[in-house]
Amino acid sequence: DSSSAKPELARTEGVLWVSSEDGRIKGYDWQVNDDASFQSFLSSHSWTDADVTVVESNAEQNEFFFPGFIDTHIHAPQYPNLGLFGSEGLLPWLNEYTFPMEASFGSKSDPENKDTDPKDTPPAGLRVYDEVVAKTLAHGTTCASYFATIHVPATNALATLCHRHGQRAFIGRVCMDNPDQCPSYYIDQSADEGFNATIRTIDYIKKLDPNGTLINPIVTPRFAPSCSNHSLDGLGKLAASYDPPLWIQTHISENLDEVELVQQLFPESASYADIYDKAGLLTNRTILAHGVHLSKDEMTLIRERGSKVAHCPASNSALGSGLAPVRFMLEQGVTVGLGTDVAGGYSPSILEVARQASLVSRVVQYSAEYQALSGNKTSDGDEKLLVDEVLYLATRGGAAVVDMADDIGGFDKGMIWDAQLIELGAGLKNSTTIPLDVAILAGRAKTGRVGNVDLFGNETWQEQIQKWMWNGDDRNVKNVWVQGKLVHSRDE
Ligand code: GUN
Ligand code: FE
Repeated sequence: DSSSAKPELARTEGVLWVSSEDGRIKGYDWQVNDDASFQSFLSSHSWTDADVTVVESNAEQNEFFFPGFIDTHIHAPQYPNLGLFGSEGLLPWLNEYTFPMEASFGSKSDPENKDTDPKDTPPAGLRVYDEVVAKTLAHGTTCASYFATIHVPATNALATLCHRHGQRAFIGRVCMDNPDQCPSYYIDQSADEGFNATIRTIDYIKKLDPNGTLINPIVTPRFAPSCSNHSLDGLGKLAASYDPPLWIQTHISENLDEVELVQQLFPESASYADIYDKAGLLTNRTILAHGVHLSKDEMTLIRERGSKVAHCPASNSALGSGLAPVRFMLEQGVTVGLGTDVAGGYSPSILEVARQASLVSRVVQYSAEYQALSGNKTSDGDEKLLVDEVLYLATRGGAAVVDMADDIGGFDKGMIWDAQLIELGAGLKNSTTIPLDVAILAGRAKTGRVGNVDLFGNETWQEQIQKWMWNGDDRNVKNVWVQGKLVHSRDE
């Protein structure tokens, strides 16, 4: 049933054991929730540390495991611009903020553009890339699909950094060769240069991670206006020439000025989606970012091709791009995940994006564009995405986008342990035994709050999740695992 995003939330407490060999979940026991039962659990099992990693949550601290977040669309080199986007729409923003920042990555890595060894430590100039990987992990992002820049050494270094940090990632070397739409200081000199550079990054990543366990290359035409027809066609063919075919990512129908520009640049095309389709870029391994202004026919085409959409509501609101009709898109059978779109989006946090997805879904029905598209409503008359649904999009939805729904995004036995340990704190309930005059002197520190989440002791499990979704942040992310390996622990 693709019309609604059915949540399946992780359990609150207990132990879980993960194979040390392949990082997959071997079993769990949600009844084990205190020290005594944990000790008897450990002594009743005969495995060794070498076989399995055992993880536990602390019920007293309102800790629970949650599937790692999947960021289906993020621009690593735009991270220094986080929160800086002015008031302009997409096209002026690209020229003013984005292209100059991305261009600077040429000199940050290797100005001589030499190939490097995947085992080499990336140059110090790429501290920004180290920061973006560390930061997204700290926010619980266990898998991300990155746009890098046109520079091969810097793009390859991003792949190495993700690999070293242990973050699952798709890494895309950006292709852009249309001299009318790209600045002269930041452009591929030809479509062929773009192909060759893309192949260099693919080869590098295949050397870095031969089985693609963590890191995979992704063919990345920036968007239709940036690319010549020759480039779009060639990149479609390039992706198809691999077995299995390579992943592809680009932007689509984000902003109305952009949509109009695309109509001018490609007058022979039936639609924006049709341009990508004719170039062989709409495959079942294609991630299309935004899709705010797609027509119903385009949604149908995208569904038929099996391509996926990265919904980026924080960016769409920040850049004034519009309100994406996500429930409607899901009803058309399109697979949707969430993306931060750093730095059109102002936050590296998928939890923040989930929040924005829910807010946008609660107001989209009032837009004339939505009313025209949908004849006023989804089939059940409600466009709203509730907490469980946006958290589903952040995890299982994202997993479906990257075609790993059987492996990540949930905690079924045999799935890969890509997970976060969330701590909401003991809450106010334990502090009510403290006389109020003492509590006043002791201040808020005594409330047992972690971050912005205040619990009062009577919340149901569903209410705890709602409180976390609306007010949680990285302070609630205690540990993060990818492929069974601990890759982040919160500073205490
Ligand atoms: N369209 C083309 N390039 C970009 C980009 O860098 N960010 C966003 N949000 N949209 C784009
Ligand atoms: Fe983007």
